[in-house]
Amino acid sequence: MTTLDTAPLAALLHQLFIDADATSAMFKQQLDALPAEHRAAMMASKDDYIAFYSRAKDVHLAVSRETGRLLYMLARATNARTIIEFGSSFGVSTLHLAAALRDNGGGKLITTEFEPTKITRTRANIAASGFADLVEIREGDALETLAQHLPQSIDFVLLDGAKGLYPDILSLVEERLRVGALIVADNANWSPDYLARVRSRRGVGKGVNRYRKASAEVGAG
Ligand SMILES: C[S@@+](CC[C@H](N)C(=O)[O-])C[C@H]1O[C@@H](n2cnc3c(N)ncnc32)[C@H](O)[C@@H]1O
Repeated sequence: MTTLDTAPLAALLHQLFIDADATSAMFKQQLDALPAEHRAAMMASKDDYIAFYSRAKDVHLAVSRETGRLLYMLARATNARTIIEFGSSFGVSTLHLAAALRDNGGGKLITTEFEPTKITRTRANIAASGFADLVEIREGDALETLAQHLPQSIDFVLLDGAKGLYPDILSLVEERLRVGALIVADNANWSPDYLARVRSRRGVGKGVNRYRKASAEVGAG
């Protein structure tokens, strides 16, 4: 049995996914109604992301059940102890990663969110799961909150905030990535600059001439 499958987390996640299905379906309909080029430009934007996510302040935009479980397994398999998350929303992915930390024997997860209502919900969900000792929520734009006071060594990064900022967030954490660190970039297809960067021969992380960091691109969240 894992922490994911036991009380109190299992029941909380079950309810969160039901809520997420409802809010995300409505939001997806609105997005799908936009012309494809407009949607792509909006998703990749580095200027309009605050307005975009403010419109989605009541929408979970959570990873799927399968992606959540995959995040848990990846963090477990790599024995992650230090995790950075860009974009917590209501905390669905946060809870999966914190469960992995718990089952790995402890550690620290720094998550980031700028929507006040979502910060409140994430904080409540973390408290209800008994993960307050593992998770630090950095409130505000992650471009600022991740610009300082990072762990000396980072094992795992989840990129799931504004897609246009993925390269910038990567730059903030890059020097601290341990060799073999895992970067999971949800919906990375909306961030062509990020994909070009991680696929380039230069690679990611310090000592890139000698090492290439593992990088995963996980779809639909
Ligand atoms: C796709 S949702 C995250 C979903 C979450 N990872 C989950 O699985 O439940 C993206 C979130 O990132 C937040 N966000 C986007 N850009 C941000 C930024 N620059 N700084 C902090 N939070 C940001 C949004 O407000 C939104 O709640």
